[in-house]
Amino acid sequence: MLKVGLVGWRGMVGSVLMDRMRAENDFALIEPVFFTTSNIGGAAPKEAEGQPLKSAKDIAALNLMDVVITCQGGDYTTEIYPLLRDTGWHGYWIDAAKTLRMQDDAVIVLDPVNMPVIQTALAAGIKNYIGGNCTVSCMLIGLGGLFKADLIEWMTCMTYQAASGGGAQHMRELLTQFGTLNAEVKSLLDDPAAAILEIDRKILARQQALTADETQNFGVPLAGNLIPWIDKDMGTGISLEEWKGMAEANKILGRGPQFGIAATPIDSLCVRVGAMRCHSQALTIKLKKDVPLVDIEAILANDNAWARVIPNDREHSIRELTPAAVTGNMHIAVGRLRKLAMGPEYLSAFTVGDQLLWGAAEPLRRMLRILLEK
Ligand code: HSE
Repeated sequence: MLKVGLVGWRGMVGSVLMDRMRAENDFALIEPVFFTTSNIGGAAPKEAEGQPLKSAKDIAALNLMDVVITCQGGDYTTEIYPLLRDTGWHGYWIDAAKTLRMQDDAVIVLDPVNMPVIQTALAAGIKNYIGGNCTVSCMLIGLGGLFKADLIEWMTCMTYQAASGGGAQHMRELLTQFGTLNAEVKSLLDDPAAAILEIDRKILARQQALTADETQNFGVPLAGNLIPWIDKDMGTGISLEEWKGMAEANKILGRGPQFGIAATPIDSLCVRVGAMRCHSQALTIKLKKDVPLVDIEAILANDNAWARVIPNDREHSIRELTPAAVTGNMHIAVGRLRKLAMGPEYLSAFTVGDQLLWGAAEPLRRMLRILLEK
C-alpha cells in the first residue's frame, strides 16, 4: 500500500478533503500517516488509530512517504518542499497551494478536464500535482465540454466570489458583520412603520464605522457590500486572481507556449461578494463558430458527470443556480445559457460551484486515486 502523508488535514480545506476521502473510502486503499504543525504526538484520526501525530516539519519522516498531500498552505510548501526534495525524495507531492502551480515540473490537476495532460506528465516522471485556483477549477468543470471541443475563441469571466476563498476567518468576519448590521437596526426592523431610508442610513453609517478589528480580514466591510479586487495588485491594472484566470486555465488545458499551442484569451474581473462558499461567474464566450444552443447544452452536460445544465428560465435560475442551492454539492451548475445580441457566436453563461469541493479538495483526492490506479 502507498504510504500517504497528510498535512493540514484539520483546516477548512483539509477537513473537506478528509470528509470526501472518507465518503469515497479512499483510506481503505492507502496507509495514511498524519502530520501536524501544532499537536505533535497527539492522537491521529481513526484511519491511523494508535499512531501519534508526526511533526509536519520532520523531513526524515516525510521522506518515508510515497505521497505527501498537503492543505497546509503556501508558506508551508515554500518552507518544506525544497528541503524534502533536497534529501533526494522522489515521492509524489500533491498540494492545494499556489506556490508550485506554475512551475515547469508541476501539473495543475483537474482530471475530468485534463487527464491527458496528467497522464503525459506521469509518463514523463513529473512528481508534483497541484490543485488549481478555485475559480478556475470550478469554471473549467462547468465548461469543460466547450474547451475540449475547441469551440472557445476567447472568454471573459466576471466573478462573484465567496468569503471562503479568503479562508475560515473571512467567513466568520462576514457573518459577524451581518450580525452587527442587523443589531444596529433591529428595533427599526421590528417596527413595520419604521422608514426604510432611516434603516438604510443607519446601516451605511455602521458599515462606514466598522473598526479595523471588525474588518481585519477583508480590510473593508463585506456584509451589504462587495469588493471589486481579490488578492494582490499585479501593478498592471489586474489582480493576481484575474491573472490566474488566464494563466492557470491555459496550463490546465495544456495550452500556451509551453505546450506549443496558442493560449486561449481568458480575461476576468474578480469580485468578492457576501456568499459563503460558492464561487459564481458570469461568462461571455466568443465561439469559434455558430453552434446551436441545444448542441452547446448537450456538449456541456455530456462532458463530465458534474457539469449540470440549468434551464435558462427564471424559476430554474433562482432555485438551482445560486450559492445557497449548490453549496455542499459536487455538481457545477451552468445556466443562463443564451446567444448574445452581438451575434450567434457570442454565448453567455453563468456557473456556480462549491469552491471547497471542486475548487480545492476534490482534485487532490482524485489525483491520489490516479496514482493508486497507475
Ligand atoms: N483565491 C481564491 C479566492 C481562493 O480568494 O476566492 C481559492 O483559490
